[in-house]
Amino acid sequence: MSKKLFIKTYGCQMNVYDSNRMADVLKPHGYETTDEAEGADLVILNTCHIREKAAEKVYSEIGRLRQQKDARPDGGKDMYIAVAGCVAQAEGAEMMRRAPVVDMVLGPQTYHRLPDMLKSASEMRAKTGKSRVMDTDFPAEAKFDHLPKESDFKSKAAFLTVQEGCDKFCAFCVVPYTRGAEYSRPVADVLAEAKNMAAKGVVEVTLLGQNVNAYHGDNGAGGTTSLGELIRRVADIDGIERIRYVTSHPRDMDEDLILAHRDVEKCMPYLHLPVQSGSDAILEAMNRKHTRDEYFRIIDRLREVRPDLALSSDFIVGFPGETDEDFEQTMDLVRRVNYAQAYSFKYSPRPGTPASLHETQVEEAVKSERLAALQALLNEQQVAFNQSFIGKTMDVLLERTGKQDGQLIGRSAYLQAVHVDLTKAEKTLAENGKSTYSDYMGKLVRVQIAEGGPNSLRGELI
Ligand code: 5AD
Ligand code: SF4
Repeated sequence: MSKKLFIKTYGCQMNVYDSNRMADVLKPHGYETTDEAEGADLVILNTCHIREKAAEKVYSEIGRLRQQKDARPDGGKDMYIAVAGCVAQAEGAEMMRRAPVVDMVLGPQTYHRLPDMLKSASEMRAKTGKSRVMDTDFPAEAKFDHLPKESDFKSKAAFLTVQEGCDKFCAFCVVPYTRGAEYSRPVADVLAEAKNMAAKGVVEVTLLGQNVNAYHGDNGAGGTTSLGELIRRVADIDGIERIRYVTSHPRDMDEDLILAHRDVEKCMPYLHLPVQSGSDAILEAMNRKHTRDEYFRIIDRLREVRPDLALSSDFIVGFPGETDEDFEQTMDLVRRVNYAQAYSFKYSPRPGTPASLHETQVEEAVKSERLAALQALLNEQQVAFNQSFIGKTMDVLLERTGKQDGQLIGRSAYLQAVHVDLTKAEKTLAENGKSTYSDYMGKLVRVQIAEGGPNSLRGELI
């Protein structure tokens, strides 16, 4: 009999990818995914630790699950709760102590062992009435080898993890501790997975990694392959029309990768290249290992080879010791670069990171003020970027139906969400005896843009 699996995913795209992989691993064991915890046999919380209150959120979710479990007619005796991801990695032992209802704790490196863990958990439960299974090892290479390759790609745009972990140790960041040392998957494995995706109809592939442009996968001939070269290889696969990669570090933005933006047509003109701060003093305190000038030089070179490149970044305001002057440097950098979109956060001290021990923490009110000013500027730039497409045409990869009737939603080359009206097109389709929108899903279409707002564009199919 089939069992129900509910996975709640927090945080980054890496976690979305991992959640899909956990579902893949469990499928041969009879688990079908469902959209709600109600009635599920196994609930997995795939957690994120990167910013504020992550653990608190997880504990309150566990509390809700415990109530649901208790409310079941049989007392939930066949329901299991697992906590996965970075919070599990960082605080697994503590979590086991604080939340007895949790049956399993597993870190990002041990998902392939889920079926074994479930087996141990149920054996333990049969014997003692309780199960407590924890696996937060770091056997990095093993993980990918053991994952089934059968994921069914509902969307035509898929994520492909090529690299994991990070050796950069930015002073504010937990990733090197939760995800471990940098590891690149061998080129052959990545290409096999990309080909499998293409065979299943995937059109757009986003190569994922915490520090993806540090990629240096085994090339099978005693050497390694860079991300620029990997992009070229993926571009050779028929059916893949668009390639993206995320997240990159400025230090690893080498010439080969920059030139991929010029030479590889399928490499999309959009780059998320976090700078975090515009102040040299803060960049140094953050251990970013580059200056603002070095960042400008990379941006200039990228724009030289690909003038329409749209840029995105992450920013942290209120890093310990950040002065008004430092913050003004960040505003100045933003004005100079002109971003298509960006994410910005208040600094939040993460336990175990060097910056959290700093004595000169910035006051909350100051952080809020700076964040508001930065976001107003970034928002202005984003609106201007989106509005610059009004009256122009662009390619859109259609992915899903919109809320309004007769509308589909897709992504532009610059990663903007585009709402596409098919009203006129539908008429044409009807005239030809076809009238279903689903014919358009996963297609790259040409769209005439009519409106541009802060978060999306709207246009009509040509
Ligand atoms: N405080 C605030 N923001 C953080 N980020 C990472 N760690 C912290 C922290 N301690 C942000 C960075 C990173 C993004 C994924 O999250 O900007 O690029
Ligand atoms: Fe964290 Fe990114 Fe710095 Fe690595 S490069 S430590 S993942 S912010």
